[in-house]
Amino acid sequence: MRILIVGNGKMGRAIGALARAKGHEVETIGRPENIDGCGLTPERLRGVQVALEFTLPDAAPTNLARLIEAGVPVVCGTTGWHAELPRITRLVEGRGGALLHAANFSIGVHLFLRAARALAAEFAGRSGFDGFILEEHHAAKLDAPSGTARVLQTRLRDADREREYPITSIRAGSFPGAHVVTYDGPYETVVLSHTARSREGFAAGALAAAEWLPGRPGVHTLDDMLSGVRR
Ligand SMILES: NC(=O)c1ccc[n+]([C@@H]2O[C@H](COP(=O)([O-])OP(=O)(O)OC[C@H]3O[C@@H](n4cnc5c(N)ncnc54)[C@H](OP(=O)(O)O)[C@@H]3O)[C@@H](O)[C@H]2O)c1
Repeated sequence: MRILIVGNGKMGRAIGALARAKGHEVETIGRPENIDGCGLTPERLRGVQVALEFTLPDAAPTNLARLIEAGVPVVCGTTGWHAELPRITRLVEGRGGALLHAANFSIGVHLFLRAARALAAEFAGRSGFDGFILEEHHAAKLDAPSGTARVLQTRLRDADREREYPITSIRAGSFPGAHVVTYDGPYETVVLSHTARSREGFAAGALAAAEWLPGRPGVHTLDDMLSGVRR
């Protein structure tokens, strides 16, 4: 496939390496050529079959709008821009475009979220335990809490309406990301955690989404893509 990666940071580079290794034709556009989305012109996008958007929270909505207006299916992994999702969704629907967005493209996190929801359902109605979330990411990550932590909190609250599940965020060091749900009572502690060891897991999930999306109009999440898939 002919793929455009918008954003030449840690994730853009990891996705590019993986996509080239799989035989895709890859182009990348970074910030210097794309201030306020100015590089995403119809001429530049001609022949691009799918785009992957991994930039910064303040850049993503403009990039997405330009890609959708040009009719390019887009996979977005940037976090921290989701207040704009209703506007972007209207644009996708109005243009018959295709967008798949996910705060976390790792399969392990997808399964972790399902397990966390099941665990919260077990704790629902049982007092005596505090439930809370800890998330840790490298010092350069801009948004806090992480997009994954926000999704996790929503899933937990949906399954257990008695707890708030407050989030504590740590930004330090260089690790790719960890999320921990803890239930702590006076005599015991229950912990469920996911730790990413490298960015390749996110990159592989994002690339799989890019291979899946063309020809599927609408706004999708990773759940839509993975639903029914068990490996
Ligand atoms: N969904 C997932 O699985 C997943 C996994 C990891 C990370 N993320 C998210 O993905 C995003 C990127 O992460 P990262 O680790 O790659 O961050 P990063 O290393 O900081 O890279 C972001 C890149 O975007 C570039 N950029 C900014 N504005 C741009 C524009 N208008 N056009 C093109 N490029 C632009 C930046 O350029 P400059 O260097 O010039 O600023 C930078 O190179 C973040 O929001 C992060 O939270 C998602």
